[in-house]
Amino acid sequence: MENQQIIKSDKAAIAVAFTEHLQKLTQEKSRVYLALSGGSTPNVLFKLWAEDYRTGLPWDRIHFFWGDERCVPPDHADSNFRTASELFLSKLPIPAQNIHRIHGEDDPEKEAERYSHELKMIIPEEDGFPVFDLIMLGMGDDGHTASIFPHQMELLESDAVCGVATHPISGQIRVTLTGKTINKAKEIAFLVTGAGKKEKVTHILGKQEGYEQFPAAHIQPPNGQVYWFMDEAAAAGLSK
Ligand code: 6PG
Repeated sequence: MENQQIIKSDKAAIAVAFTEHLQKLTQEKSRVYLALSGGSTPNVLFKLWAEDYRTGLPWDRIHFFWGDERCVPPDHADSNFRTASELFLSKLPIPAQNIHRIHGEDDPEKEAERYSHELKMIIPEEDGFPVFDLIMLGMGDDGHTASIFPHQMELLESDAVCGVATHPISGQIRVTLTGKTINKAKEIAFLVTGAGKKEKVTHILGKQEGYEQFPAAHIQPPNGQVYWFMDEAAAAGLSK
């Protein structure tokens, strides 16, 4: 299926648009298996949920997972779980059993194995991969997504559900969903905002020469729909 582009004026409007999409999903399904993206882009979304959606979403029917996690303790400033916990998980009526964090404090290889097992225990699977209802993804300005970086393209084709990655600049170890797990999802939503992402968005969505070198270009679920939620700044290079 063709990528669907949702372009709004700014990141606040994107947060509302994505939330309305999630609301619709929760009206269609009794339980939603959602993987959160990390980084800073989702912060505006998490704050919106805490401030305006206490009653606007069925929190007890959404199960929260992560697309990737930094291998740090859950109270570390770099932890994707800590960010989500501080901004919305701790502020809303979300049952503890609905929160499935990656244990960044544990041995990365062992945790990749454990998390893969947890995902397959909870989420219906197909061909040995969990089928998420919705996976949120960000995109780095190097074209990475989740923690699949351009120097580790093998994570796109790995037969593992989760893998261990290394940030190319900081060397930070990460646990990440692999490309095959991501591409099993029923829906994938990129949330990409800011002028800093314009060049890669244009390169990838415009399928310009060499676009396949970027991991985000390989998020093409054969049986799923990809949405690109972008603000005007990130989408400015796309043909109208
Ligand atoms: C992470 C993310 C990563 C992120 C992109 C974009 O753990 O860092 O999952 O893939 O989404 O790097 O990050 P920003 O939203 O901070 O630009």
